[in-house]
Amino acid sequence: MTAPGRFLTFEGSEGCGKSTQIASTLVWLRSAGLTVHEVREPGGTPVGEKIRHLLKHDADGDQMWPETELLLFAASRAELVRHLILPTLAKGEWVVADRFHDSTTVYQGYARGLPMEDVAFINRFAIAKQEPDLTLVFDLDPSEARNRALRRPRPVGQKDRLEDQDLKFYEAVAEGYRSLAKHQPQRVKLIDASGSREEIFARIQKELRRAFPSLPR
Ligand code: TMP
Repeated sequence: MTAPGRFLTFEGSEGCGKSTQIASTLVWLRSAGLTVHEVREPGGTPVGEKIRHLLKHDADGDQMWPETELLLFAASRAELVRHLILPTLAKGEWVVADRFHDSTTVYQGYARGLPMEDVAFINRFAIAKQEPDLTLVFDLDPSEARNRALRRPRPVGQKDRLEDQDLKFYEAVAEGYRSLAKHQPQRVKLIDASGSREEIFARIQKELRRAFPSLPR
């Protein structure tokens, strides 16, 4: 029987430097001989990419209720889990996800204020019980994260409904992630996202080696 693959998720607010570090992590894991699939949320399937556009950029999404937002994120995830994540893990390969259900807990639960038990129920339903093996949360001062997110170049005229939030929202997101790490310390690890790229990557490697001792030293 094939050993089950490993499922690694990266989390954190916009502007925390997640994408750069995911790219370095993928190079490192692949150079260790692993087959690693990269996915991003929302999106990653044809249906999921349409949902992503509606959630992030489409003006029709502007008046969306938080409940609708929650269900759309869950719908995108349900597709991704069943089309891609479960079959990949069953083959013994790795999945690295840029966001997963913890984003929903933090953004729709902590930050938007939807009832946590409803969010937990919908998350469980969407992920078909497939929890990540390890979740790395990039922890950065919320005002620094917001400044970086707002400075990021975007296609001319493109708005981003989810990034264009006030500082209070960014603070709630940071607090939500810290609380998750406190309550699920085995799975959810905070990574200090301040400092140079090299310093941050060294912190990631340390956590990954601790969780998966067969990774190269
Ligand atoms: P990103 O892919 O550029 O990080 O954008 C995803 C945005 O969607 C980001 O603002 C976080 C937000 N989000 C949620 O609010 N809930 C979720 O479940 C997920 C996956 C993302």
